[in-house]
Formats: sequence, C-alpha cells, structure tokens
Amino acid sequence: MTDIEEALGEIRDRGLYRRMRMISGPQGPRVLLDGRPVLLLCSNNYLGLADHPRVRDAAAEAAKRYGAGAGASRLVSGTMRIHRRLEERLAEFKGYDASLLFGSGYLANMGVIQALARSGEVVFSDSLNHASIVDGCRLAGAETFVYEHKDLDHLAWGLKQAAGRGSLIVTDGVFSMDGDVAPLTGIVELARRHDVRVMVDDAHGTGATGPGGRGTVAEAGLEEEVDVLVGTLGKALGSYGAYVCCERQTAKYLVNTARTLIFSTAPPPPSVAAAMAALDLLQEEPRRVEKLQRNASVLRAALTEQGLPPSPGNTHILPVVVGDAGDAVAACERALENGVFAQAIRPPTVREGTSRLRLTVMASHTKSELRDAASTLAAAVPASVRKAAVRRLLDAEETAAASGRIFDGLAA
Ligand SMILES: Cc1ncc(COP(=O)(O)O)c(C=O)c1O
Repeated sequence: MTDIEEALGEIRDRGLYRRMRMISGPQGPRVLLDGRPVLLLCSNNYLGLADHPRVRDAAAEAAKRYGAGAGASRLVSGTMRIHRRLEERLAEFKGYDASLLFGSGYLANMGVIQALARSGEVVFSDSLNHASIVDGCRLAGAETFVYEHKDLDHLAWGLKQAAGRGSLIVTDGVFSMDGDVAPLTGIVELARRHDVRVMVDDAHGTGATGPGGRGTVAEAGLEEEVDVLVGTLGKALGSYGAYVCCERQTAKYLVNTARTLIFSTAPPPPSVAAAMAALDLLQEEPRRVEKLQRNASVLRAALTEQGLPPSPGNTHILPVVVGDAGDAVAACERALENGVFAQAIRPPTVREGTSRLRLTVMASHTKSELRDAASTLAAAVPASVRKAAVRRLLDAEETAAASGRIFDGLAA
C-alpha cells in the first residue's frame, strides 16, 4: 500500500472522504446531479446570476473582444481596461476610494493578510474564519491570535496582551458555514482603541445582505472604519475572481507587496465582464436581494415548523448541525434520494463534532420548493438530531434574554 492509499483509507475510516459530484447544466435552483434531478440547496449562486442571459452574454462578448485569458500578472504584461473598469465600479458600489481585483477570494485573503500583518506584529482572527483567512495568517510573518467566535471580550484581552504589536483584526462578515454575522461595530471600536486595522471578508455578505446588497459593512454603516473589505465575484455575483476595497494608498501598497496578486495571472476577461453584468443587474434590480432574504425566512420558518430549526442566524446560510460526520453524510444521502441536495460539511471545514448540512437558499427558489425541501430534510435527519437542534435554539434564545441583548442571529 502506498502512503497515499494509506492516507485515503484513514480519511475514509474517519467518515471524511470527499468526492466531486457531477452536475449537468448550469448552477440553477434545480440541477441534474449524477443524472438525477434535484433541488440545489447548497450553491453560493445566491441571486441566480451565474446563468442569467445578460451575464452569459457579457462573458461571451468579452471572450470575443479580449480573448479567454489575461496572459500574465497585471504587473508583468499590463492591466486591461476591463479590469480597471470593474475595480472602479466595485469601489463605488462598496463606498471605498479604490479596489483591486484578485484571482479569487482565497488569493485575496492570502495576499492581503500576508501584506498587512508583518513580522513582529500580531494578527487577530475569529476562530470560525474561512480557511483562506487561516492560510493568510499562516503565510504572514506575524503571530496569530485566534479569538473565540465573535467574542469581543476575548479579542479585547488579546489586543491588550499584544501590547502595541497588533496590526490587523480580520473577520468574515457573514460566517460561511454558520450564517451568522460578525459584531462589526464592537470590532471597529476595539480596533480604534488599540490602533489596529480592520479587514472584513464579505464573501457571503455581498449581494445578499445590507442596503442594495452592499453587504454587512454597509449594513453597519462602517465603510469609513473598516480599512479593508474583501469580496468575491464567485458567489452572489455569479462569476469568478475577487476584489479588495481600501484606500488608494493601501491599494498601491498591495500592488507592491501582495504576493498572490504579484505572482498570479489576472482574472480572465470573460469572468470580469460577467461580474460587471451581474453588478449591473444587482444595482438595477435590488429586489433580487429582497427575494433572497424572503426565501431565507421561508426556509427558516418551514424548517422550524418541521422541528428542525437551523442554527440561529438571519441570513441566507442556514446550517443544520448534525454532529457526527457519518450521520451528516447519511442525512445528505437520504435527502438526495428524495430530491434535495444539501451538502454535508465535515471537518476540517467545520470543527469536529459539528458536521452539518449547510443549506443555502437562492433568490431563484420558489416558496413551495423551499417548504417541500424542509419536510424532505426533516425526514432525512434522525429525531435525536432534530431534538438537539430545538434545544440549541432554545438555549440561544435564553442566553439572549438573560444577557439583555439581542443575539445577532435572532435579530428580526
Ligand atoms: C468567507 C469566504 N472567504 C473567501 C472564500 C474564497 O473565495 P473564492 O471562492 O473566490 O476563492 C470563501 C469561499 O467559499 C469564503 O466562504
């Protein structure tokens, strides 16, 4: 047996083996999965724009006009007008001076954290931040202080311990696997007090939360306070790539220091054009965002009615925590047999013992599809898991009442 076979065997034994499922056609609300029609309840194509005719046409036009690829890093063979135009549009949309495109959200987080958190400094990262932030912290020369999820007291304690060496607090805006929102106002206050920068990764907030889909930072009115705002083009904007919004000076600094921008080919023109068309649609038709939010409420209510409440939260990401990895996979398979695709998410994406079905709604789902899906999912999940979910919800409500403040996730 080779070392690779052995490692794969170990992954299988732990119930963590993954494989890619085959989808036919675009990422719509319904897809053919491994040849079977299913309701897609785990895509980040939140607004259904990935296959919108205008988005497809924009990509096709750009391919004809500019070609399929960007050729090299923008620092090597020059930047294309289409990249610059999208950067201007995104900066304006997000209320920032400047924005800079990166190849993906993963690359953006890696590059920005590595550039802003230098040797001898400390970067502060929420314990449930996305893997690309974790890897950015690893790549940076700085020390990392991981604070408990959304725990401002722990963060304040860490900032104090750093005794002036703090450089950056980094957090997801909407947490990708939990669907809750970072306490941005409190984070910004602490950052100001300790003179450190704030970076928010709003990969899942953009196009889905905030006024006109401008995300969690706009929702909190903190554009002036959040120094660096990362967003991806690959989720609500239906394309591929990412951007970083910041001050002009910071953008110039990133061009000179962010390794994942310097040493990687620029995003392909068709993807850039597709994202621009999606941004046009988002701005022309903000009702898509409202529909997404309404759909999330419909699914949340239907799941609760079925005795399977998702974890507390009020976004379009609704996790149903199952616990054991094998149980989560079994629930996913049972739901699939009945026409609902809700991917099982297991370690290392989430903590041991918190495997889950991560449900994500799309603006293009219908209410009846979501209600039917809720009953399919409830039937797919064992009664013990449903009971635990109800208990968790009650505990969260109790904690919120006891502390006299509204738990983020339960805010109406
Ligand atoms: C919070 C968060 N940040 C960054 C990324 C990476 O973005 P991309 O898919 O554009 O690499 C993801 C992807 O799932 C994410 O959830």
